[in-house]
Amino acid sequence: MEVKTSLLDNMIGVGDMVLLEPLSEDSFIENLRNRFDHNEIYTYIGSVVISMNPYRSLPIYTPDKVEEYRNRNFYELSPHIYALADEAYRSLRDQDKDQCILITGESGAGKTEASKLVMSYVAAVCGKGQEVNKVKEQLLQSNPVLEAFGNAKTVRNDNSSRFGKYMDIEFDFKGDPLGGVISNYLLEKSRVVKQPRGERNFHVFYQLLSGASDDTLKKLKLDRDFSKYNYLSLDSAVVNGLDDAANFRTVRNAMQIVGFMEDEVQSVLELVAAVLKLGNIEFKPESRCNGIDESRIKDKNDLKEMCELLGTEQSVLERAFSYRTVEAKLEKVSTTLNVAQAYYARDALAKNLYSRLFSWLVTRINESIKAQTKARHKVMGVLDIYGFEIFEENSFEQFIINYCNEKLQQIFIELTLREEQEEYIREGIEWTNIEYFNNAIICDLIENHQNGILAMLDEECLRPGTVTDETFLDKLNTICAEHQHFESRLSKNSKFITDHSLPHNCFRIQHYAGKVLYRAEGFVDKNNDLLYRDLSQAMYKANHSLMKQLFPEGNPAKVNLKRPPTAGFQFRASVGTLMRNLQTKNPNYIRCIKPNDKKASHIFTDSLVCHQVRYLGLMENVRVRRAGYAFRQAYESCLERYKMLCKRTWPHWRGPAREGVEVLMADLKVPADEFSYGRSKIFIRNPRTLFFLEERRRQCLQDLATLIQKIYRGWKCRSNFLLLKKSQIVVAAWYRRYAQHNRYQKIKSATTVVQSYTRGWQARKLLRELKYQKRCVEAVTTISAFWHGTQARMELRRLKQEARNIHAVTVIWAYWQGTKARRELRRLKEEARRQHAVAVIWAYWQGLKVRREYRKFFRANAGKKIYDFTIQRIMQKYFLGLKNTMPSMSPVDKSWPAKPYRFLDGVHTELRRTFHLWRCKKYRSQFTEEKKAVYEEKLEASEIFKDKKALYASSVSQPFMGDYLEISKNPKYQKLNSAVDEKVLLADVVNKINRANGKGTARIFLLTKKSVVLADQKTGQVKASVPLPDLTSVSVSTQSDGFFALKLKEGSASAVKGDFLLSSEHLIEIITKLHRTGATAEDSEQLNIDISDEFLVQFKHDKVCVKFIQGAPKNGNSVSCKRKNNRLLEVSVPTTA
Ligand SMILES: Nc1ncnc2c1ncn2[C@@H]1O[C@H](COP(=O)(O)OP(=O)(O)O)[C@@H](O)[C@H]1O
Ligand SMILES: [Mg+2]
Repeated sequence: MEVKTSLLDNMIGVGDMVLLEPLSEDSFIENLRNRFDHNEIYTYIGSVVISMNPYRSLPIYTPDKVEEYRNRNFYELSPHIYALADEAYRSLRDQDKDQCILITGESGAGKTEASKLVMSYVAAVCGKGQEVNKVKEQLLQSNPVLEAFGNAKTVRNDNSSRFGKYMDIEFDFKGDPLGGVISNYLLEKSRVVKQPRGERNFHVFYQLLSGASDDTLKKLKLDRDFSKYNYLSLDSAVVNGLDDAANFRTVRNAMQIVGFMEDEVQSVLELVAAVLKLGNIEFKPESRCNGIDESRIKDKNDLKEMCELLGTEQSVLERAFSYRTVEAKLEKVSTTLNVAQAYYARDALAKNLYSRLFSWLVTRINESIKAQTKARHKVMGVLDIYGFEIFEENSFEQFIINYCNEKLQQIFIELTLREEQEEYIREGIEWTNIEYFNNAIICDLIENHQNGILAMLDEECLRPGTVTDETFLDKLNTICAEHQHFESRLSKNSKFITDHSLPHNCFRIQHYAGKVLYRAEGFVDKNNDLLYRDLSQAMYKANHSLMKQLFPEGNPAKVNLKRPPTAGFQFRASVGTLMRNLQTKNPNYIRCIKPNDKKASHIFTDSLVCHQVRYLGLMENVRVRRAGYAFRQAYESCLERYKMLCKRTWPHWRGPAREGVEVLMADLKVPADEFSYGRSKIFIRNPRTLFFLEERRRQCLQDLATLIQKIYRGWKCRSNFLLLKKSQIVVAAWYRRYAQHNRYQKIKSATTVVQSYTRGWQARKLLRELKYQKRCVEAVTTISAFWHGTQARMELRRLKQEARNIHAVTVIWAYWQGTKARRELRRLKEEARRQHAVAVIWAYWQGLKVRREYRKFFRANAGKKIYDFTIQRIMQKYFLGLKNTMPSMSPVDKSWPAKPYRFLDGVHTELRRTFHLWRCKKYRSQFTEEKKAVYEEKLEASEIFKDKKALYASSVSQPFMGDYLEISKNPKYQKLNSAVDEKVLLADVVNKINRANGKGTARIFLLTKKSVVLADQKTGQVKASVPLPDLTSVSVSTQSDGFFALKLKEGSASAVKGDFLLSSEHLIEIITKLHRTGATAEDSEQLNIDISDEFLVQFKHDKVCVKFIQGAPKNGNSVSCKRKNNRLLEVSVPTTA
């Protein structure tokens, strides 16, 4: 690991001049030289950084270095510009203090480089992130753009800033950059038209011509050859180590990063080209007859090209170069310009064009880099202003530059020397003031409002009448003659009358940094900074957007007759603002020193350095720092750094830091006059004391390191040992467990064996005992059973005897009880009768009494009347109710209202019966005679067959039609009809059963009042005619068949062939009609109807029994008849379901 060297640790020379011993100018320079020779270019005076320009690149700005200095204390590491940047950044971020970095020094001392280093360091250490990085990049890339347009090679510096620049970088509360604002101060614009010997115009001209592509140059109507342009000096156009072409690309790239649009870049380059073209416009004199000199443009080609670039009309510009119009209130006077005036006008235009372009660039960059948020921000300002300059010929520009440096020195004195002294007072340290040169007097000479040089210059410029540089010098000679720092040959101060180094047209000022001789020539013009209105109007007319913006006063609508403020006035005002701004911020100083005039590395010119050290007031700076005390440190940090030197403060001091430091100092026996206690800091008078403390600390640190090592090693060994010990215990524990487990298993199995033997033996013993016990128990049981048996029998006998005795007793007792009970019952009955008699008598008696009592209240028959009335009402209600609830007139309707009162039961039933009879009568009265006859027949049929023959039920619904054959109408039966003289009562087709086989033959059956006729069905021929008186009886079965036998009177004529066995579907009707007819005939007897399942039929000579059986239905539902034998005819009737 790299050993970091502290400021206080051994190093080359002394890192902080405050600690320089002995302190003298020589030792100071010697220390600087010593460090410079060892590449240590930075040295401190307290918190001020002295920077020597090494004129070569040193490896001390690497990212590693940035990391090294990041977040470290100022004194911790060797002096570096990064330490200062870090300190400033941290106190901005952590303590919320706005900072400014003031970089001063001569031209070429390294100010611009230093400012870039500070910015790059801050960019490296502050926050990161896409947005932040963009902001950083834009801030950093604004540098190359401004340097291209604002820097130039001078004799002192190849990259000299020809403008002042102050940049505010804005940060948020986290320390991340938000954006920035750049202010620029007075560009040295005279350089555009003329450069001193050995110097160049601004870089951008050379960069454009060497770096731009052929195409671009063609568009800009430019030629790559520098020598073609009057405004470019040729003697030093090429600078060693400066690659203009590469830089042009860098600038283009930077413009893009900063946010310039392509057309903006184009416009800028067009204006640059226009300036070059402008320089090439030349004039020739032309005499007029009236003697007035006039000028003419020599070669109009360049003018033409320029006008094309800017989009102006050539004639307009031509006129502006030839005439000058002066407007005064109401008048407008045009005068012609002579050649000199024309050149003056041309150069003024070029200078104005360029400087306005430069200011526009700054504004445009500001637009890009300005913070996007309105949130409160902290600011770090970096001031890089042109350095103090002494040239052979110094003009208005140098005067202004040096005035600015003078002001900066003033602020340095103000803040450093004054603040140092104020700190002692603040800390309550005894203090005697230190003398130092205060340049306030020089500042006053220049800027005093009444008689300051700038004020007088302004006065001259505004004064009416002829004003020249000489009149201005005269004025100075009169007014400033007495001033200590002003020198002039013509001044009344006789001191300089013989001074030949002081020419007549010059004046000299003793600046803080040395005497500077200024040539008065040009002061008035430059201060006036006059641009003829004709030119600005011509520029405004140009068809070029940027041009219009740059020359707003050329707008004819906004004619302003007031003079614009002079250059000096403007500069003084802006420097004043800057100074006020700086004073509000915490300053950090970088004082740049130039080691030689040759821009060479390794050369250290003592005299040059000595001169700078003197005028920069560095010795005074050190002296003030040391006058009281060379070194100071806050109590806390002092105690922190040295507390190991005292046992009482090491390792911890519990009390206030100051007391700790006091204890520490007492313990170290530091002499009391060597230090002082301030309010918050300890002040150490002599550097020796500090070195003593540091040496003690170094030794102590070695001891402490050994101690730390010792303790660490001890701790490490002990940890290791404890770990081993712990492991050993774990291993041992596991092993013991294992061994014990094994032993236990062995003991356990042995025990089991012993146990099993013992248990076996015990069990057998127990078994034996139990067996013996069991035998004993069995024996006892048997004995006791016998004994109990004997006992029980004896007891039984005894009990039986006893029971017999008890029964006898019970019976006797029962008898006795019975007797007693009967006697009692008799008695009770007697008593009851008597009681009843008493009750009846009593009731009668009561009734009598009551009647007697109430007789007087009623009339003799009132009770009966009430009763009758009540009954009458009830009856009335009953009948009315009945009337409303009468059932229908249908005889089959069985409904009848419910009976209302019990005592009306009889009446109710009787009424129902009567009603029924009445409605039946009504029903019957509707019948015709025929229908009546039919019903009578039906009634008769019912009387005959109901519940006697099964066939009857099916006949009830069949109407009795009588003549089924329509015998009188059918011509087929005409013959038959005529054969029967009586009215046919019934005509039907019947089956005559053959007596031989039981089969049937169809016959027409006719019934008249007198006879039954059987005829052939087909022919109608009468087969038999039986007079009704010959018919004795008719036999039918009880079943559902249609068989019937007509039995004839024995001995009658009809009976010759025997009885008829017939079968008909209309059996019921036939029999009924037969019965009726028979009954109504005068001479016939009542026809018997025999209903039985077995009857005899006379066939010729034998009687055959016709038997009806119930048979299973064989062929359908038909009845079958079979001859079984001679005497039996069996009719099988299927059972009806
Ligand atoms: N820290 C440095 N390291 C290397 N070279 C430096 C350093 N500082 C300055 N220089 C050189 O000195 C030259 C002039 O420095 P510059 O900063 O432009 O001076 P100033 O701005 O003070 O006029 C630079 O171009 C560079 O070559
Ligand atoms: Mg510079």
